[in-house]
Amino acid sequence: MTGNAIAIIGAGMIGAAHAFGYRSNFGRFSERIAGLRLKTVCDGNDLLASNLARTWGFEEAVADWAGVLADPEVGIVSICLPNFLHVEVTRAALAAGKHVICEKPLALNAKDALSVYRDAERSKSVSATVFNYRRIPAIAAIRDLIAAGELGELVNVSIQYQSEYAADPNLPHSWRYERDRAGPGALLDLGTHAIDTARFLCGEVCEVAGAIASISIKERFLPAGTSIGHNKVGLSEKRLAVDNDDVMSALLRFDSGCQGLFMASRVAVGMGNTLSLFVTGTKGTVRYTSQTPAHFEIARFDGSGQSPFSSVANNPSLPYTHLLPVPHDGVAIGYAEVFGFMIYDFLDAIASDKPMSNGSILDGLRAAEILDAIQEAADTGKSAIVNRASAQLASRVA
Ligand SMILES: NC(=O)c1ccc[n+]([C@@H]2O[C@H](COP(=O)([O-])OP(=O)(O)OC[C@H]3O[C@@H](n4cnc5c(N)ncnc54)[C@H](O)[C@@H]3O)[C@@H](O)[C@H]2O)c1
Repeated sequence: MTGNAIAIIGAGMIGAAHAFGYRSNFGRFSERIAGLRLKTVCDGNDLLASNLARTWGFEEAVADWAGVLADPEVGIVSICLPNFLHVEVTRAALAAGKHVICEKPLALNAKDALSVYRDAERSKSVSATVFNYRRIPAIAAIRDLIAAGELGELVNVSIQYQSEYAADPNLPHSWRYERDRAGPGALLDLGTHAIDTARFLCGEVCEVAGAIASISIKERFLPAGTSIGHNKVGLSEKRLAVDNDDVMSALLRFDSGCQGLFMASRVAVGMGNTLSLFVTGTKGTVRYTSQTPAHFEIARFDGSGQSPFSSVANNPSLPYTHLLPVPHDGVAIGYAEVFGFMIYDFLDAIASDKPMSNGSILDGLRAAEILDAIQEAADTGKSAIVNRASAQLASRVA
């Protein structure tokens, strides 16, 4: 028997977004989930854990994640650790009977992701992979339009996640730049979001027709002190090689016959942190960029040869907007608010005693299978079939 206290494991950059998500939803669920408490922030770095706990009103800061999972009061766990720890800690959390939401990527590769899926399938807990971009109201609305057939048959999609975070050669080396601890580079860090969004909108990818990986900054200095997220800190004298991709491009084939252009870059000067996409179907095109997060555009074929785009601004009819503190026409939307929507869905699944269907562990596995195929295509210089072990799996957690 476990309680319903919440714990966040990993108090770096994204642990803070989870803390915001729980805090902003607390009132909505305090009656629906008996014993809900903001209890524990866990990080090997004491200062990070205690700062995060204090900022968002968690009761305690601790260092040992195994101790958190052994705590009978803790029933709800966010895993916000570096990529190489996701599988071990998620499986341990499921074995301890906790509801668990694991940051993307679910694992460094599909084989490991499958092991998490199998545990999740056996467990009675709610389990989820963090796919926050599905919850941007504009993207969720585009999915609804596509599902309603408003674009017709899908023809092609172009999706890019471009970020500048690693463009500075004086940014310190970290787990992110090591294939052993991060897996692929931009592909896994940013491409996971892009691939999940492409699947969310256009369905399954069956083949990667080709891919190119490149590393533009080949070594980096280790930090002189603590570094979290993409923060700039003082550097030591010691340099380490970067052995995963800064940029990955790929050509995708979907089950539906739709074709896809994919690109992930962590060295995209001027691009900030930008997910952008267009999807074209036989009846129209939609386009979106997270640089104008509260809008998407749609052109409906009108036979004129110049079918015009019109802009749809955030408005109360779009998905998730009822959760905004200011749900009015045209009011912009922020990154952290979208994390709030994700935590809302997770807590709602727990309160309703239902599996998390939107951003499941199976979604994490399916993304990993496509990412594996992209990496294989880049490594071999040939096309790669997406190995869908997950296609045969039962879908209790999907
Ligand atoms: N969903 C998103 O949009 C999004 C955005 C950024 C990062 N992420 C993901 O979140 C995860 C964490 O990324 P981040 O940027 O917060 O990294 P980070 O390096 O800032 O934070 C990771 C934290 O984990 C702690 N840690 C490491 N090993 C530990 C251990 N054994 N026990 C306890 N604490 C430990 C570190 O001290 C650090 O504070 C990554 O998997 C990343 O892919 C997701």
